[in-house]
Amino acid sequence: MAIPERFIDDLVSRSDIVDVVSDYVQLTKRSGSNMFGLCPFHNEKTPSFSVSPDKQIYHCFGCGKGGGVINFIMEIENLPFPDAVRFLAKRAGMEVPEDTVDDRTATRRSRLLALNKDAARFFYENLSKPVGAGAVEYINSRGLNKDVVVRFGLGAAPDSWNTLSDAMQSKGYSVGELLEAGLVKRGRNGGVYDVFRNRLMFPVIDVHGDVVGFSGRIIGDGEPKYLNSPDTPVFQKSRNLFALNLARKTKRGMLMLVEGNIDVVMLHQAGFDCAVASLGTSLTTEQARLMARYTKNAVLCYDSDNAGVKAVQRAIPILESTGLSVRVLRMSGAKDPDEYIKKHGADSFTVLLERSENHIEYTLLSARDKYDLATDDGRLGFMREATGLLAALPNAVERDIYSARAAEYAGVSLDAVKSEVNREVRRRIRESRQKRERDASRPELAVQPAERSLRYDNVPSAMAEEGIVRLLMLDPSLVKESGELKQEDFTSEFLGKVYSVICRRYNDGETVSLASLTRELTQEEMSHLSTVLQKPESLADSSEKLRDYIKRMQTEQLRARAKTDPIEAMKILRDRKGLSG
Ligand code: UTP
Ligand code: MN
Repeated sequence: MAIPERFIDDLVSRSDIVDVVSDYVQLTKRSGSNMFGLCPFHNEKTPSFSVSPDKQIYHCFGCGKGGGVINFIMEIENLPFPDAVRFLAKRAGMEVPEDTVDDRTATRRSRLLALNKDAARFFYENLSKPVGAGAVEYINSRGLNKDVVVRFGLGAAPDSWNTLSDAMQSKGYSVGELLEAGLVKRGRNGGVYDVFRNRLMFPVIDVHGDVVGFSGRIIGDGEPKYLNSPDTPVFQKSRNLFALNLARKTKRGMLMLVEGNIDVVMLHQAGFDCAVASLGTSLTTEQARLMARYTKNAVLCYDSDNAGVKAVQRAIPILESTGLSVRVLRMSGAKDPDEYIKKHGADSFTVLLERSENHIEYTLLSARDKYDLATDDGRLGFMREATGLLAALPNAVERDIYSARAAEYAGVSLDAVKSEVNREVRRRIRESRQKRERDASRPELAVQPAERSLRYDNVPSAMAEEGIVRLLMLDPSLVKESGELKQEDFTSEFLGKVYSVICRRYNDGETVSLASLTRELTQEEMSHLSTVLQKPESLADSSEKLRDYIKRMQTEQLRARAKTDPIEAMKILRDRKGLSG
């Protein structure tokens, strides 16, 4: 491992979780020994994000995210483990002892970045060669000028299976590096071929100015229309935005999120240098957080088709959850910003931008357009939807303003709307209180995780397995008393894995701590572990408790067995009796 274990333990002990989390979340309510605040990882109105100063873990009862202090930084700052460690070290005023393994990964990364940069240059230079003639013609036909071509570093991938691959190999890059960068693929005959062929190339450049990947549009018609680099050691689609390298410098005080790469380039050409796109994925929380680092204001300007309208509705809460204030630009008479600007010009687009509604207005209007408000049924349907929307607004003044708007649309009295909305608000508060109480008293019934390996097939046995993991985390030396218990005895694949990691580390004389597990488990597994660890457990009578848990596992597994295979279950029971007496 690159960074020494001892350093990480030291760092974690000097980075109090309450302190670190407080940089991002206002922690106020106390309940028992836990602090509560609004979860930074999902959108919520009542706090379900808890931090335990005793256990030094965080856990959200709403979205299930959780872990130790390093996980928190990984999650909120979008950083891989070693970078999160460096981040915390800087905060704690500590210096990270780096070693050679780390240098090696650093070299590998910088090789890949250099390769990407050379590939981008190769594509760009093709534009002034005969092989790039088709691309140049295409660029002209789309109305893009020389200036943006240079600003974005657009280029041409020739219609050939090996031109890029040959050019890069002659510059000293290995086939392995080309494969790792996603620029070539291995063919059936064992050789490799260029991934991007006959395409207009858009380099994806991150905020440090590194070329991290590519997006290539077919020249003319054909499928697939766009090809994007796969995720590589230097590129994660879900954590990058096309053109953020340029747009982050905008003076417009906002970032505009659009769907297409061409839209972005056309908008920049027309002076809207705040446009970015999400690289063909639907917007992720990481991308939203990335935007929130550079601006307070997001404008959504997706395509005007049905898919675009749906995508807007999905994107609004994601952007809002990062604290961005969100407006939506409604376009008509054109399917996307590129087409709009070509048809109506930049000035007309400016008017649209100035008129863009905040997202509540937008959502109300979209709801209005869905119903026929001339009929009673239509008005009822609209009011039902509007009430839900209005009740979700966190702020009473906003609720009043938009209630008036809704009343106007539906042609009903403001008082009627207000009383409906208030009733809904009270119902929601009641519901979330009940849910929180339920979750606190029966934590085992909390949401089942999406990941298959984290789900419990035998819940009663898994509850005992959780108890074992909790005890061992509190006191790893109990490993000595777990006797014959093996990883395979766990019905939960995940808990069995944690158990075996704890045993291995303990037996090898290594530390067993949340931070040490952070390296061995995925974020999702750490979240699940935080769910397990936040349940109460004490070390009083720990040996006896451990034995009880193990016994309960056996009993519950036998009980489950008896249901599917009674004869076998009897046999096991008989053997066990025979053994013990
Ligand atoms: P669009 O089909 O709206 O593309 O897809 P566009 O950028 O407006 O392209 P033109 O105007 O037809 O040339 C929006 C975005 O979705 C991703 C790309 O990032 C594209 O810019 N996409 C689309 C893909 O990743 N793969 C595809 O096959 C199509
Ligand atoms: Mn388009």
